[in-house]
Amino acid sequence: MDAVVLAPPECETLAATLVRALNCQRVDYETRSFPDGETYVRIEGPVAGRPVIVLANLTEPDRRFLPTALLAGTARDLGAKSVGLVAPYLPYMRQDARFAPGEGITSSYFARLVSGTFDWLVTVDPHLHRRTSLDEIYTIPSAVVRAAPAISAWIRLRVHEPLLIGPDEESRQWVAEVADGAGAPYVVAEKLRDGDRDVHVRLPPLDRWKGRMPVLIDDIISTGRTMIETVRHVSELGFPPPLCIGVHAIFAGAAYSDLVATGAREVVSCNTIPHPSNAIDIGPALVAPVQAMVGDAG
Ligand code: R5P
Repeated sequence: MDAVVLAPPECETLAATLVRALNCQRVDYETRSFPDGETYVRIEGPVAGRPVIVLANLTEPDRRFLPTALLAGTARDLGAKSVGLVAPYLPYMRQDARFAPGEGITSSYFARLVSGTFDWLVTVDPHLHRRTSLDEIYTIPSAVVRAAPAISAWIRLRVHEPLLIGPDEESRQWVAEVADGAGAPYVVAEKLRDGDRDVHVRLPPLDRWKGRMPVLIDDIISTGRTMIETVRHVSELGFPPPLCIGVHAIFAGAAYSDLVATGAREVVSCNTIPHPSNAIDIGPALVAPVQAMVGDAG
């Protein structure tokens, strides 16, 4: 394939998987800040007439998205045939409704920005809660990769007799699929969030699962409060320290060390966001949808 992959050094593992599997070329680029804070961009190899795959880490999107968009603009200006975005973590998905008068529904506005910049989008488990499909807000073709098969395979290999636990109703979609693939039972807790860091979790009766290893699963670990409260609750019920699995390891501030300090047996994540907890590789699952998107873009 004559496609080109543009990826920052922190996405090395996923970039290498795409380049190898698609038999395409990685082209280096430079972005840096001018003294006034604006971004300088230079692509250091040929992109004219070729499909360009921009692989991006979009955590802290307010800082990272604009340079990524300017990189895409540069590729297009240099004659790229198409410019697609592989964002293993898709930010700005959680504010999907107006909860108080005057609030912005920022997931929609961000979707407009991305749709106006790229020709297609591939991502992993976007936080679809009140929405059922990215097509509701994204106007470009998109493909969603599920992390569940990779998580199930990881659990099957490493955890004896697991009990999967989703910390809130939104997590049911992920936990149910992972449980199915791992051949394990699952339960879903009730979560009340009174603020960014004020979270209460209530579990259903778990007596019949005593003796199993609790495995908490959520899509996003941000402040860590959801996981921390669930770890505490599970431990109070007399279970051994749980294993915590997050698809997207945001870990804002001290969230990671706070979660470890709460007594989680182990904290692991998929490599959608570069983080020391990355243990589950979703790279191979990206290959087919990226290949299809590049092909469809012509
Ligand atoms: C939200 O509903 C998500 O599924 C996660 O439960 C949430 O984003 C976790 O956030 P935090 O780590 O800040 O509690």
